[in-house]
Amino acid sequence: MRQLLITSALPYANGHIHIGHLVEYLQTDIWVRFQKMRGNRAVYVCADDTHGTAIMIRARAEGRSEEALIAEMSEAHQRDFAGFGIEFDHYGSTHSEANRAVCHEIWAALRKADMIVEEEIDQLFDIEQGTFLADRFVRGTCPRCGSKDQPGDNCGNCGATYGPIDLVDPVSTLSGSRPEIRAAKHLFVRIEKMHDFLAEWTQSGTIPTESANYLKNFFLNEPLRDWDVSRPAPYFGFEIPDSPGNYWYVWFDAPIGYIGATAEWCEGQGEKLDDWWKSEKTEIHHFIGKDIQYFHTLFWPAELETAGFSLPTQVHIHGFLTVDGEKMSKSRGTFIRASKYLEHLDPEYLRYYYATKLSSKVEDLDLNLEEFVARVNSDLVGKVVNLASRSAKFVAETGLSSSYPEDGGLFARFAERGEEIASAYENGDYGKAMRMIMELADQANPYVEEKAPWELRKDPAKSGELQDACTVALNLFRSLVIYLAPVLPALAKKAGELFGEPLTSWEQTRTPLTGRPVAKFSHMMQRVEPAKVEAMITESREEGEAEAASTPAGKAWHDSGEALAANPIAPQITIEDFLKVDLRVARVVAADEVPEARKLVRLTLGLGGGETRQVFAGIKAAYEPADLVGRLVVMVANLAPREMKFGTSEGMIVAAGPGGKDIFLLGPDDGALPGQRVG
Ligand code: MSP
Ligand code: ZN
Repeated sequence: MRQLLITSALPYANGHIHIGHLVEYLQTDIWVRFQKMRGNRAVYVCADDTHGTAIMIRARAEGRSEEALIAEMSEAHQRDFAGFGIEFDHYGSTHSEANRAVCHEIWAALRKADMIVEEEIDQLFDIEQGTFLADRFVRGTCPRCGSKDQPGDNCGNCGATYGPIDLVDPVSTLSGSRPEIRAAKHLFVRIEKMHDFLAEWTQSGTIPTESANYLKNFFLNEPLRDWDVSRPAPYFGFEIPDSPGNYWYVWFDAPIGYIGATAEWCEGQGEKLDDWWKSEKTEIHHFIGKDIQYFHTLFWPAELETAGFSLPTQVHIHGFLTVDGEKMSKSRGTFIRASKYLEHLDPEYLRYYYATKLSSKVEDLDLNLEEFVARVNSDLVGKVVNLASRSAKFVAETGLSSSYPEDGGLFARFAERGEEIASAYENGDYGKAMRMIMELADQANPYVEEKAPWELRKDPAKSGELQDACTVALNLFRSLVIYLAPVLPALAKKAGELFGEPLTSWEQTRTPLTGRPVAKFSHMMQRVEPAKVEAMITESREEGEAEAASTPAGKAWHDSGEALAANPIAPQITIEDFLKVDLRVARVVAADEVPEARKLVRLTLGLGGGETRQVFAGIKAAYEPADLVGRLVVMVANLAPREMKFGTSEGMIVAAGPGGKDIFLLGPDDGALPGQRVG
């Protein structure tokens, strides 16, 4: 029995899980489930990646703490993963004490190995926001070709690469202000000290050949550059113990999160961390996307080696998802959140479809929506589930034959393919495994068609033959479902219920089931309805458009949470309650001071057609009466009139703000007409 520790990359806490991420998490989950079915001990850990400037800025913009933000995202991520049947043994966070402790340990080891160096570097600093700016938060004019509004690292027009401080007229995308250059001390890991180790390790078969070759050419022929692992305050992360005011860069503590999460799992299980991270007996398998390979194939092994942790046994690297041949896009509706998918479609469809597309190569994969529908319907519904739906009901009363009938060697042939299918799974060649399984299904279906249980059952003399035919069909179905179980856990569960015995092990394909009852057949999988796929795309597009309209590209908002905190949301009301309030657009026809009352203005509000109302409003400190005449406001038109010392007030105008000078009248956008109802 192998002992395996398996990880997926830790998703960033500043965004929701989408179908691109799922390529990775589904791929890993399938591998973990496969290993468990083979009798291996497999532990799957993951965590949210919570640190960095992006989280800090977003929390600020939303007027809440980083902790509150990451707690909410962690919950959302875990809900999405669970919805897709992705089962972690532990799901942690990089913002945990367990992770901090491991960071300290690795840092101390790097210091001890004399691998940390200090250097002053110039960086852009946003004075308004009080923060140093990462490259992606700066735009400006290209120093080479002069083209405006270019990103902080390279020019989209002429292709020049440069640093943000080289930009002419830099602008912070956080505040729109002009940042200044400030020098700050940074700490670097001298990765070059591990050059020989890395040269060997990266070529040792641990990472895919494509990646190994890439590193050979691009990195290992020249000295490795020092890796900048610190960020000056303010930064959301862990403060570096021997460098107060400096924090570990998010990519320093993120992979360490693999160990931190394992430590938490160990604590819960009474296991020893060293058995998992400092022992020969555990294999460590990372699953990651090609965009983050440097971190996992250079920095990470260098740190692990220096600090005496185990090195990964294998780094499984996958490509990127495209949808209908193009990058996921919000405006095309192909940027699909996991939660949106789940509103419309069965997660098993996507699990299967991705499985058919995955190989051990580092290549991109395409979700072709038409093919997705066709594949799932023809393979899963047409070839697999159909075997059971055409036979189970005929043995509901008799159960399976007491001995396994002659089937022309089919069951034995299915069992024989087991090892080959297993090795395809083991190598990450899920596409190949799916093809082999469907080839078997293609042998099972002609058997059922030839026997035609639905015909046999019409002839009472053939009841024995009917039972035998269904016994064979159901056993073939069962073997197929066992082979598919890592990919389709929900189907496997339902099939297990049909047979009164869970399908949990490859071994079960070796012995057919006989002489036992079969439960009542209930639907196992519906066909994919193309209309649901369309609805999912349409809604994703609409939501993408709404989002694009509310947040101009690159702009972050910095609204504080003060106003809301000072005045929390009132108890819930019904739509009926709300509709009782008749809000109308009105024109200020006249506005006069009220000599007896310093705070009040007497407004004459026109509702159109000569209809007017008199309203006394406490807005004198904020508005000059003369400035109000002619403008549109919103009024509560059906408020009971109130007698005041200086006359009757026949309504209220709607305004925001705490009062005094801070009052802000609400006005409709251009085009609204007096008398129109607001709601
Ligand atoms: N937080 C880092 C990983 C830290 S690991 C110590 C990160 N997070 S991520 O949320 O951006 O991505 C998580 C994983 O999902 C990565 O492995 C990434 O490659 C993968 N994918 C994200 N978008 C993807 C596609 N569109 N297609 C395929 N995989 C994708 O990177
Ligand atoms: Zn340029």
